[in-house]
Amino acid sequence: MGSLSHPWHQPLTLPISPRPSTRMCSPHCCPPRLLLLLTGTLMPMVHSYGFRNCIEDVKVPFHFRCIQRFLESPAPAVSDLPPHATALNLSYNIMRCLQPSAFARLPQLQTLGLAYNKLETLSPGAFNGLGVLNVLDLSHNQLTTLAEGVFNSLGNLSSLLVQHNPLRTVSPSALLPLVSLRLLSLRGGRLSGLGPVAAAVQGLAQLELLDLCANNLTTLGPGPPLPASLLTLQLCNNSLGELAGGSPEMLSHVKVLDLSYNNISRAEAFTQLDLHNISLLHLMGNPLDVFHLLDISDIRPRNLDFSGLVLGAQGLNKVCLKLQGPQALQRLQLQRNGLKELRSHELESCPVLRELDLSWNRLQQVGCASRLLGKKQWEELEVLTVEHNLLKKLPSCLEAQVLPRLHNISFRFNRILTVGPSAFAYAPALRVLWLNINSLVWLDKQALWGLHNLTELRLDNNLLTDLYGTSFAHLCSLRTLNLRNNRVSVLFAGVFQGLSKLQTLDLGGNNLRHLAAQSLQGLPKLRRLYLDRNRLLEVSSTVFAPVQATLGVLDLQANNLQYISQWLRKPPPFHNLSKLYDLKLQAQQPYGLKMLPHHFFQGLVELQRLSLSRNMLRAIPPDVFEDLGKLRSLTLADSSNGIHDLPDGVFRNLGNLQFLDLENVGLHSLTLEVFGNLSKLKVLRLARNELKTFNDSVASQLPSLRYLDLRKCPLSCTCDNTWLQRWLNNSRVQVVYPYNYTCGSQHNAYIHSFDTRVCFLDLGLYLFAGTAPAVLLLLVVPVVYHRTYWKLKYHWYLLRCWVNQRWRREEKRYLYDGFVSYNSADESWVLQKLVPELERGAFRLCLHHRDFQPGRSIIDNIVDAVYNSRKTVCVVSRNYLRSEWCSLEVQLASYRLLDERRDILVLVLLEDVADAELTTGQGGVIKGSSS
Ligand SMILES: *[C@@H]1O[C@H](CO)[C@@H](O)[C@H](O)[C@H]1NC(C)=O
Ligand SMILES: *[C@@H]1O[C@H](CO)[C@@H](O)[C@H](O)[C@H]1NC(C)=O
Ligand SMILES: *[C@@H]1O[C@H](CO)[C@@H](O)[C@H](O)[C@H]1NC(C)=O
Ligand SMILES: *[C@@H]1O[C@H](CO)[C@@H](O)[C@H](O)[C@H]1NC(C)=O
Ligand SMILES: *[C@@H]1O[C@H](CO)[C@@H](O)[C@H](O)[C@H]1NC(C)=O
Repeated sequence: MGSLSHPWHQPLTLPISPRPSTRMCSPHCCPPRLLLLLTGTLMPMVHSYGFRNCIEDVKVPFHFRCIQRFLESPAPAVSDLPPHATALNLSYNIMRCLQPSAFARLPQLQTLGLAYNKLETLSPGAFNGLGVLNVLDLSHNQLTTLAEGVFNSLGNLSSLLVQHNPLRTVSPSALLPLVSLRLLSLRGGRLSGLGPVAAAVQGLAQLELLDLCANNLTTLGPGPPLPASLLTLQLCNNSLGELAGGSPEMLSHVKVLDLSYNNISRAEAFTQLDLHNISLLHLMGNPLDVFHLLDISDIRPRNLDFSGLVLGAQGLNKVCLKLQGPQALQRLQLQRNGLKELRSHELESCPVLRELDLSWNRLQQVGCASRLLGKKQWEELEVLTVEHNLLKKLPSCLEAQVLPRLHNISFRFNRILTVGPSAFAYAPALRVLWLNINSLVWLDKQALWGLHNLTELRLDNNLLTDLYGTSFAHLCSLRTLNLRNNRVSVLFAGVFQGLSKLQTLDLGGNNLRHLAAQSLQGLPKLRRLYLDRNRLLEVSSTVFAPVQATLGVLDLQANNLQYISQWLRKPPPFHNLSKLYDLKLQAQQPYGLKMLPHHFFQGLVELQRLSLSRNMLRAIPPDVFEDLGKLRSLTLADSSNGIHDLPDGVFRNLGNLQFLDLENVGLHSLTLEVFGNLSKLKVLRLARNELKTFNDSVASQLPSLRYLDLRKCPLSCTCDNTWLQRWLNNSRVQVVYPYNYTCGSQHNAYIHSFDTRVCFLDLGLYLFAGTAPAVLLLLVVPVVYHRTYWKLKYHWYLLRCWVNQRWRREEKRYLYDGFVSYNSADESWVLQKLVPELERGAFRLCLHHRDFQPGRSIIDNIVDAVYNSRKTVCVVSRNYLRSEWCSLEVQLASYRLLDERRDILVLVLLEDVADAELTTGQGGVIKGSSS
């Protein structure tokens, strides 16, 4: 682990502004620069892969998200990012201002998101160094002005989004550096005139779109013409009344002009402007006489969007006459005109047209569409859109005139209750039919007859309860059938019979409880089947048998599946779905799947994605994922209440797994037995578990790991977690927010900074060194005691002697002249010969039988005798040498001799004693002393 070092090992440096700025942010809003530098340098140098406030995208390297981190300035996020970051998203923070060169560390940045902050001020030079930046999002902030110098060095910027800021002023030179700008959105601001904006953008030779909707614009001018490149100008939702003030050429290059929802009431307002280039003009929501406008201006009727002009029925006729021309009209848009009714041939006076849009009116019925048109038009109409009206009923159109080219019909957002038989007989070429978001309770069995070319049918969000096989019988080209969010509770056998090209069937959000064995019959090409949010109680292999050769996606989430036994009574439900690659089983209601029976996923040999989250799994059998050798993504998140530790070997066959989500599953530990075989695992999410440590030996078995999330685990500050600190300095695995892992539940102690020195001491050695001597001592003491009791005792006395003597250094007066040491066997010679002889010479002798104090210990007496006598006379014989007392006396005397370096020992050899015998005595060598 960690042999690869990450490429951006560079010391952390904070941006220094190239020149002192005169206009700094106000002090209350940003900490002064010096302080920032200081805190920056106080933080430990980080060369890590794992960022304080950002997460690198797992799929797109060098894309960073640092959202919702309560950041007050970009510095804490930017400071530890690699210099080759290409995208940075700092949305949803609490920044109030940007310092100069705030992003200079990231010169490769192409996308910068700063939306949803509290930015009030951008310092001049805030984006210094971002020479290749392409997209800058400053939307939803508190900016009131775009000042000069702010966008310096953004020569490559192509999109600048400043919408939804309380913007009042744009400095005339603020946008000058943006020579590559194509899109500028200033929507939702407080700007009051187009003129100043025009002045600011006049030099932008690439600008194509300028969005100024929802400002407070009341006038256009005064201002220079907009750049020739500007094609689209959006001025909707302002308060423009007069279009006065601007120069006539101001809009002369604009092609698409949106003036909807303004307050323009006088058609003459347009005459001051050169609008000859306009190809699409929106005027919805203005109290304007549009016919007068067409009469007096050079706007061509076909370039006008007639939506929202409250034309009424007569108006419609006039419009059609105005639109006449030699060529077919591409699109007639009549939205929001309050149309309540269309009589037969109402649109006959219109030119031949391809698309008709009647949305957002109050039509209660349109009948069979061909009835509205004239003979010439029948041939051309291709697209019919009648959304957001009050349609209640689609009549039977068996007899109606055919529109041979009509291929798209949308009747979305109406109130359609019934569809008559052959309701679309007028459109035999129909390919796309949208009937969604209506009130259909019941679909006539013959309603869709004859639509042999239909490929897409949307019936979702209606109230259908029953489906009949005959309804779909003619739809032999259908590829997508959407029946989501209806009230279907039963699928009868063969209901989809004949849909031989159907690839996608969406039955989500219905009331299905049970699927009959033949309900999916007749769908030989079905690839995607959505059965989510129903009430299915069980699934069985027989249901899927008709589609087993083709089915790739099966969505069963949020049904009522539940297993209470570990053993299946029937064959595994997905047994023969050998093409399935995506299976969703998450969030079964109301209490989750609870169990995964043994071999539940048997046969899913092609499965790549499996989602089992939110299922309160109580147990996972070790064999359950056995067949899933191709699995790449497995999600078991939020299965708490159930799993504690995963069984050994549960992932053993998942050699291709790349993404494993185990968030909040109650894991206590990671073991090699469970995680040992995941050699391709890249992303491991382990947040909100009970893990106290991330086992290092497990990590070493995950050679492909790139992303590890351990947020909200009670990781402990113990030596088991030193890996984090090691990884931070040298690792290929991104650890999510590694500086926010606290020590268990302590809130101010962090794992990345706890003192690990103790972990690297060899504690064993220290303990050994500490205890071994004690043990040895305990072993030796009894032996020593047993063997050398006397010796010790003797040395003890020697010591006492020495001590005594040391304290009485001064020449003292002796009690005796000599202490006679002898063995009792030689007593007769001593008493009869030696003592009388010496005492006659007026020596005072100390004899043990005469002068030792009775009651005192014999040893004390000997010591006193030796030290109170000037000399010690030893009467040496063989017996003497054998006696321990005598030896002791000699020893004491000889010690005194050695110590005082005075001649105090007198040896009297009574008989010839061999050298060997002399040395056996306790005292060692005493031979050859003077006599
Ligand atoms: C930043 O992230 C937010 C939230 O996920 C997203 O809505 C926004 O589009 C992102 N902005 C950019 C510039 O990528
Ligand atoms: C413009 O105003 C209309 C009507 O008030 C509103 O429905 C629409 O959402 C507004 N559009 C914008 C871009 O604000
Ligand atoms: C599944 O396939 C096997 C052979 O591949 C076959 O014997 C079995 O009947 C099939 N099961 C179903 C339910 O079709
Ligand atoms: C790490 O896992 C190995 C093998 O499963 C185990 O022997 C070891 O005790 C674990 N270490 C810790 C600190 O849990
Ligand atoms: C997370 O870490 C960052 C950087 O160390 C710090 O500023 C922030 O306050 C931390 N947040 C929490 C919730 O601990």
